Amino acid sequence: MRTTDSRTGMLTSRFEETFGATPDGVWQAPGRVNLIGEHTDYNEGFVLPFAIDKTAKVALRLRSDSTVRLLSTFGGHGLVQDDLAGLEPGSGRGWSRYPLGVAWALKERGVQVPGFDLLLDSDVPLGAGLSSSHAIECAVITALNELTGAGLAAEELVLATQRAENAFVGAPTGIMDQSASLRGAKGRAVFLDCRDQHVDLVPFDAEASGLVLLVIDTKVSHSHADGGYASRRASCELGAKTLGVKALRDVGVADLVEAATLLDDTTLRRVRHVVTENDRVLQTVDVLARQGPAHIGRLLDASHASMRDDFEISCAELDLAVETARASGAIGARMTGGGFGGSAIALTPVAQEQQVRDAVVHAFAQAAFTAPDIFTVTPAAGARRLA
Ligand code: GLA
Repeated sequence: MRTTDSRTGMLTSRFEETFGATPDGVWQAPGRVNLIGEHTDYNEGFVLPFAIDKTAKVALRLRSDSTVRLLSTFGGHGLVQDDLAGLEPGSGRGWSRYPLGVAWALKERGVQVPGFDLLLDSDVPLGAGLSSSHAIECAVITALNELTGAGLAAEELVLATQRAENAFVGAPTGIMDQSASLRGAKGRAVFLDCRDQHVDLVPFDAEASGLVLLVIDTKVSHSHADGGYASRRASCELGAKTLGVKALRDVGVADLVEAATLLDDTTLRRVRHVVTENDRVLQTVDVLARQGPAHIGRLLDASHASMRDDFEISCAELDLAVETARASGAIGARMTGGGFGGSAIALTPVAQEQQVRDAVVHAFAQAAFTAPDIFTVTPAAGARRLA
């Protein structure tokens, strides 16, 4: 039997009140943090994210026509109604673009998707760089994949959600976030090779090493549909083309000396971030296996410096969060996700947790920044059916 917690029960009864029928089921998918490997996914490189214990839940019922009705528990736009028959990329607003986008992407892959009624509940903070949008997409696509009998494998669902993001929502993102949300597992980080989607689930148990992973949400909101993300991606493509490789994945750290003679300064720094970051992911996986989480701090720090100085996607709030966390007891810290805002992570000994929290809150107040939200995360299960 599937377990029904109170959030699931609440969602089911709210669905029944709203739509006058019982949902076909309830599905959930998590947000993610990325331990290391930033802006490497669309360069066919390596990433090491994990699914977090914050999730989007959807109660969903297929309809016999092509109408879609969408409502969330957190207000937003009220009930949104659309028709799958005339759906075009760019339609929908706010969070409704995510369910509409995956329905559109599944249809593009030849899946017969009928209309549906959907009620969403989510505790993944919005705009915090924890992939709240992918959590919604992954919950919906898991539900539709099951209810339509499409039976697509996780790798195909990953590509369909990427298509929804790229072509429907208009954010030129890679495959990391949805891979973590769909393929994550409790106690594990998802070591993903973005060239062939091979996954190794790597044990990541901070607690057993006397550590916590703190997320510091800077409250600086960002959008990957803005120009910054796309321009970094364009620099990487230019770098790969100039160096004559399929993707920056094919450039090694030793190749950077020659690359320096071929690339302009900005492109070189963008390339250097990606190349060294790929190397740091591989080192992190190795250090985790041989020595454990307490030894990855220097790699997290180096990753942040590379994003701040070479890739230039950090911001004052993220830098302050990282520097303050390190100065007050964290053993390693870095911004996580696409950048330009969102969250930092700080790997912190349990004994120093309160000290780090207090120091970061204090530093933000001193700098007259909006108060950050600080919480811990642990690797949790990937997308699944709840009821
Ligand atoms: C966002 C994107 C991902 C990835 C990261 C940066 O989260 O959705 O595909 O590119 O930024 O690592």
